[in-house]
Amino acid sequence: MIAEKAIVERLKKTSQRKIMEYKNILFSVEEGIATVTFNRPKVLNAMNYEVMSELLDAVTVCEKDESVRALILTGAGEKAFVAGADISQMQDSSVLEIQKMMELGHRTLWLIETMPKPSIAAVNGLALGGGTEIALACDIRFASEKATFGQPEILIGIIPGWGGTQRLPRLVGMGIAKEMILGGGQITAQRAYEIGLVNRVCVPEKLMEEARAFALKLAKLPPFALKMAKNAMNYGFDMSLDNANKLEISCIAQCFSTQDQKEGMRAVLEKRKPNFLGK
Ligand code: HXC
Repeated sequence: MIAEKAIVERLKKTSQRKIMEYKNILFSVEEGIATVTFNRPKVLNAMNYEVMSELLDAVTVCEKDESVRALILTGAGEKAFVAGADISQMQDSSVLEIQKMMELGHRTLWLIETMPKPSIAAVNGLALGGGTEIALACDIRFASEKATFGQPEILIGIIPGWGGTQRLPRLVGMGIAKEMILGGGQITAQRAYEIGLVNRVCVPEKLMEEARAFALKLAKLPPFALKMAKNAMNYGFDMSLDNANKLEISCIAQCFSTQDQKEGMRAVLEKRKPNFLGK
């Protein structure tokens, strides 16, 4: 409990928003929406060990801080969301070093995927390799018309290592995932939309606006119900249908322990807007 408080207190309050200083990412919280911006535009926001550590730290804050209700991930600069793991750091890595790097990435992306709060990837440009994998770990993906996606690892003698071989087939189906991972090609935002890899394609100038609007909508919804909806989908997906249905029953039943469930239902019957308290 004390450790959790310490994590949350590291967020510095400014007049409107809370911020935390990092070297490679920008992190702020405004109106309950946390935004992480990958900020190494000179190398197309490539992810090295340090950036991934900072991302893990920021996501941990989001998970623990009750004022954070949704998370947006995006990239700095015109060109890239994230052009993958940093090849200059990886090229001479030992097996043990690369294992450590992969474990850190998996831990971070698992936290994004399974934390109670919803996440949106606002993909503003190139999302290659680890970039596509980060987007895949988010609950929802919005892409700029200029964005491109790909798993080009095979072209440099490796394979995806931050969950691409597992999350991509689950999202778009095995055939298309194999085409992307074995072929190593890139696809446009429009194609990504057609195969279900992204939820929405936006004009570049509207991408953040649309991501924020959707995040704000999510931030006003009952947090416990959002958590249960994520749990039912995330943990039920790989179960037998029978067991997954039982998990769903347990998740919906738990919602009836909240004041927000009572308020939501009362508001419908009283023909008014609900006032959710997050309790
Ligand atoms: C390190 C990178 C990088 C990367 C780009 N840069 N991608 N540095 N790691 N993944 C650097 C370039 O070296 C260059 O630095 C600067 O960013 C601008 O890139 P350019 O190549 O000059 O730009 P452009 O000609 O427009 O080409 C863009 C590109 C190309 C097609 C995206 O940069 C490229 O192919 N990058 C590698 C993409 C990739 O293979 N990603 C997957 C990595 S593996 P300088 O100093 O020359 O200006 C991976 C595995 C993840 O992600 C899971 C396991 C770890």
